[in-house]
Amino acid sequence: MRELVIGNKAAALPIIQGGMGVGVSRSSLAGAVAKEGGVGIISTAQIGYDEEGFDQDQAGCNLRAIEKHVKRAKEIARGAGLVGVNVMVALKHYREHVKAAVKAGADVIICGAGLPVDLPELISQAAQEIGALKENLPRIAPIVSSEKAARIMLKMWAKKYDRTADFLVIEGPKAGGHLGFSKEQLDHIDSLDYDSEIRRIIACKEEYEERYNSTIPVIVAGGIYDRKDIDHAFSLGADGVQIASRFVATWECDADDAYKRAYINARPEDIQIVKSPVGMPGRAIRNKFIEKVEETKLPIKKCYNCLEKCNPKEVPYCITKALIDAVKGDVENGLIFCGANVGRIDRMMSVHELMEELFGCCGLH
Ligand SMILES: Cc1cc2nc3c(=O)[nH]c(=O)nc-3n(C[C@H](O)[C@H](O)[C@H](O)COP(=O)(O)O)c2cc1C
Repeated sequence: MRELVIGNKAAALPIIQGGMGVGVSRSSLAGAVAKEGGVGIISTAQIGYDEEGFDQDQAGCNLRAIEKHVKRAKEIARGAGLVGVNVMVALKHYREHVKAAVKAGADVIICGAGLPVDLPELISQAAQEIGALKENLPRIAPIVSSEKAARIMLKMWAKKYDRTADFLVIEGPKAGGHLGFSKEQLDHIDSLDYDSEIRRIIACKEEYEERYNSTIPVIVAGGIYDRKDIDHAFSLGADGVQIASRFVATWECDADDAYKRAYINARPEDIQIVKSPVGMPGRAIRNKFIEKVEETKLPIKKCYNCLEKCNPKEVPYCITKALIDAVKGDVENGLIFCGANVGRIDRMMSVHELMEELFGCCGLH
């Protein structure tokens, strides 16, 4: 199996474990994936939810937790694979999270839920603050779902910073969490011909590879379940895949056992597209929480300062509370994001077993 080379960094296997907030992918999962030779990604969204003092100081706890989890994941990986973070652009403290990840020594930074227009600048600022050498800085990637978004991103970075992306994550309509598609598009996934969109995005990044005499590996995400799906992504021109949902039903995943069981029990008909205060649709497992928010707004008693643009008086529910409730195991009253293929997941396994199932050979073992 080919390795995944991103600039001067490389992972033995061409797989990125997708970032999952809140608290679903932290150091335990990301470290285990890296140890097997993949790229383990920690989500920074409210990552410090279980740190002491979180109720009073979310920002401080999250910054401390980013450092703690990146370092811990690297210890678990023992030098294998790569460890990175996923930072949502829509977060109020997106810039601080990026800088904290640079300082903690993340190998890669992937930004979604918005276009990370100023990401290169943030990396340079953080590097200056700690006196880091350019070659040691994290490799950076935006998440895009359309050729239009890819073009905008690459054009902006070229114009503003005279540089291009180190790699590109293409997230399709079958992904979990927040989705860069309209509800109407998600209701008719099969008529989207997303393979053609992937090919157009790849053609777009090739223009920038030529312009900057560099390679921009492309990682395809969304609904990838087995080796057949991985091979299909490669046949479209991908250099690697990003998989998230399958890693939830692993022993190492950082969510509560009840959350993992909800994945194993979910049937295809339990999956639903929901509205999120982030302003994008999301895919989730239907439960009591979703039934409730369909009927009424859930009053917000406390604001956790998560999103740049959120008016607690107007949104239907608090996304931070809903996601923290779920990851702690309250699977009836919390919001459980999932990918479109969650219905196929039917048992728990270790990260090693999953990587072996997908690639047939692994990392350190
Ligand atoms: C529970 C869950 C939480 C997620 N949270 C985030 C997130 O915080 N930021 C992000 O960019 N993507 C998030 N995603 C998307 C994944 O990183 C990934 O790209 C996508 O789910 C891949 O599709 P798959 O789950 O079918 O493999 C999340 C996905 C899931 C299932």
